[in-house]
Amino acid sequence: MTFNLQQYLIEKQDLVNRYLKLILGQFDQTHELIMAMDHSLMAGGKRLRPILSMAAAQACGKDFLIALPACCAIEMVHTYSLIHDDLPGMDNDDLRRGIPTCHKKFSEATAILAGDALLTHAFNVISFPEQVFHTYPDHQTRIDLISRLSQAAGIQGMVQGQMLDMQAFHSKQNNDLTHLKKIHSLKTGKMIIASVEAGALSIGSDSGTLKKLIVYADKIGLAFQVVDDILNIEGDPKIMGKAAGSDKLNDKMTFPTIMGLDESKKYARKLIDSAIEAIREFDEKATPLRAMANYIINRDH
Ligand code: IPE
Ligand code: IPE
Ligand code: MG
Ligand code: MG
Repeated sequence: MTFNLQQYLIEKQDLVNRYLKLILGQFDQTHELIMAMDHSLMAGGKRLRPILSMAAAQACGKDFLIALPACCAIEMVHTYSLIHDDLPGMDNDDLRRGIPTCHKKFSEATAILAGDALLTHAFNVISFPEQVFHTYPDHQTRIDLISRLSQAAGIQGMVQGQMLDMQAFHSKQNNDLTHLKKIHSLKTGKMIIASVEAGALSIGSDSGTLKKLIVYADKIGLAFQVVDDILNIEGDPKIMGKAAGSDKLNDKMTFPTIMGLDESKKYARKLIDSAIEAIREFDEKATPLRAMANYIINRDH
């Protein structure tokens, strides 16, 4: 039977959306904080990170539903990072996921707090999944998941990457490929690695399997960012649901500015090929994971 990626993405997005709704559904829906969290969380992101988690769990061959608490937590952390990234003090963007950014719809202070609440509640979801989920990892695994996600999102990951991104923008120093890769590996790569890891950890995969999955995730994470830079030049803002052309406008260091547009496309392809190579020994249960790697460079948003 041929694998239908489009159908796979829709099914998994629906699943994650259903559980994210249940998580927020525990709270007073008329409360402005919850409304602001819901506005950004349920705005229809691609759910790439949770889907990678589930695909990694499936590749390890067991019931992927046990990865759902971590999937939802990761999407909450990711959404918090987008809300804060769009704030006037950071990228000052008006549009996200096809709708006004959180601070545009609500207020700057509410957007900051909605981001804070998504971040903190994400860890509550992993540590106490019984409140919403039917299957969940044991206590030791929860601690491992919390440890990996907090590393990927914080000082050793996304937040440091955001800081370096901001500093590169202001200082225009160190603007070379090595530094650009470092920024992106921290800013975007670590959360993508954590997503794949979370699927494997939730299901209790062995360390050899985990190692191969981390190589896979590292490659697709970088490719994801190269494509993001290409889409900022060639993409359609209506399809992307966020501004295009902003990198040039802001004079940002990107893969296309350093290596040119055509080379960037070849580089992204090469990264995806090596990601698929890293999971060469996996059987057909890794079909979704292989398809996700290709999706990352074929996506239009
Ligand atoms: C956007 O991430 C931010 C970056 C890390 C470049 P996504 O492209 O995964 O955004 P959503 O979640 O689909 O909105
Ligand atoms: C945002 O990065 C991704 C985060 C890690 C928060 P960018 O600022 O480069 O991406 P967009 O263009 O706003 O999605
Ligand atoms: Mg930014
Ligand atoms: Mg931004």
